[in-house]
Amino acid sequence: SKIAPYVNEPFTDFTKEENKQAMRAAVAKVKSELGREYPLYIGAESIATDAKITSINPGNVDEVIGYVSKADQALAEQAMQAALNTFETWKKVSPRARAEYLLKAAKLMRERKLEFSALMILESGKNYVEADVDTAEAIDFMEFYAREMIRLSVINETLPLAKIAGEDNFISYIPLGVGVIIPPWNFPLAICVGMTTAAIVSGNTVLLKPASTTPVIAYKFVSLMQEVGLPAGVINFIPGSGAEVGDYLTTHPKTRFISFTGSKEVGLHINKLAAETAPGQIWIKRVIAEMGGKDGIIVDETANLDAAAAAIVASAFGFQGQKCSAASRAIVVESVYEQVAGKVIALTEQLQVGLPEENFPVGPVIDQASFNRILEYIEVGKQEGTLLTGGGKAAGNGYYIRPTVFGEVSGKARIMQEEIFGPVLALAKAKDWKDAIAIYNDTEFGLTGSYFSTSEERIAEALETVHCGNLYINRKCTGALVGVHPFGGFNMSGTDSKAGGYDYLLLFTQAKLRSRKI
Ligand code: NAD
Ligand code: ALA
Repeated sequence: SKIAPYVNEPFTDFTKEENKQAMRAAVAKVKSELGREYPLYIGAESIATDAKITSINPGNVDEVIGYVSKADQALAEQAMQAALNTFETWKKVSPRARAEYLLKAAKLMRERKLEFSALMILESGKNYVEADVDTAEAIDFMEFYAREMIRLSVINETLPLAKIAGEDNFISYIPLGVGVIIPPWNFPLAICVGMTTAAIVSGNTVLLKPASTTPVIAYKFVSLMQEVGLPAGVINFIPGSGAEVGDYLTTHPKTRFISFTGSKEVGLHINKLAAETAPGQIWIKRVIAEMGGKDGIIVDETANLDAAAAAIVASAFGFQGQKCSAASRAIVVESVYEQVAGKVIALTEQLQVGLPEENFPVGPVIDQASFNRILEYIEVGKQEGTLLTGGGKAAGNGYYIRPTVFGEVSGKARIMQEEIFGPVLALAKAKDWKDAIAIYNDTEFGLTGSYFSTSEERIAEALETVHCGNLYINRKCTGALVGVHPFGGFNMSGTDSKAGGYDYLLLFTQAKLRSRKI
């Protein structure tokens, strides 16, 4: 049957009381199921290990979300064998049939949207909107990649090869093999689902090692895929230590590709390890690494300053600044700097900090290590700029930090150069709009950026010279939509891939040309 054209999953409107009520009910339901144990999945086996990862609520650290079994190297090896065996059959399943599993899972996830979102509220500290957007993006990825695989499978009809006499030529995208999927915790459903389903719909089998702070939501996704009948062994679920299981699989001779999203440090480490050739390895491993950002918003003196300030605050503090797309820098032209700073401070001070399940705009950061690191950066910021608002911990039984703004920060300051991944914003003053673009570009990263202006001439130049993978004009720099804003950055932000874009699945395939004399 014909598949309807792709459209983005709509967001839930939480200004409506009935939707808020429904989310509260979903949170209550998920709470009644907390503290359970979750197994690993290797091939057709469900394995409970003695060692467990304890997942806790970062907003209420005494609350355990679940205990998730933990793979060691021996189990990782067992998972590799299961993935290798399953690859032999999965690669022969037609692209359309593979896509159908994603479409079925998207449908079920849509039906259970509130429940998935509620679990993220508790496990990752998202507020209602942030959790809802995460679930919607997960659904989008499945709907989009399913259609993409079908499109690639009939590419010869839409993009025929040039004809020559006496031959029939045909190109097709075939899978690579076994891939290791390593997602981060900050979009614990969307990115985990996107990375995993892109790989499997392309015909690969995978070893999924979820982030250790959000393994329960990853488990829920894997069990959803089982529910729609995905053959055992296509997704092998092996939570575990990045250093132990991650390094073992990255260096494994049978690993064909590694799809990683996370920090620059870990991405570079994986890239380096993967470049070595293990005995018995017969390919060059492919590494797809989507890494960090030091994203920024530029405001010139012609801009709508209210809109710019609102975008800065939304981009800096949405999900506590824990987005690779978060604006941790705002670069403002001198003549309007004080005005913009004033508006940013006022909006920031309206943001209340508190429990995600009560839908406070700002919740906790993910864990103790992040909490400590961000507080250290705040101390660095006090040396490098003027503290305008925030500047330390906030009350609560979790990892709460006040949204913090520093002013008069120089472009070379550490808080203008290093990814903080928390609710900390640095404001820098530029002489003029060209200087502002130069300050923006003075970074090793290049993920997202925004330029606020009403000057067409400057916008035209900014579109060319602001160097990042996702550049937005007169809007916030977070919130890319699957299929609308293919997402991924330049330089140290990664390997230039575009999740949710038309060339993404090619990264999980190799093209085979079949030529026949006639
Ligand atoms: P992280 O690098 O600490 O961890 C990411 C994943 O790598 C986790 O699953 C972790 O367990 C695993 N890991 C750690 N060491 C490993 C090793 N030696 N081998 C294999 N895997 C290993 O990142 P994080 O804290 O989970 O996520 C935040 C980071 O992710 C930020 O830098 C953020 O900018 C980035 N991010 C980027 C994008 C993007 O699309 N570019 C999207 C989201 C997050
Ligand atoms: N794709 C996410 C965003 O754009 C990270 O905010």
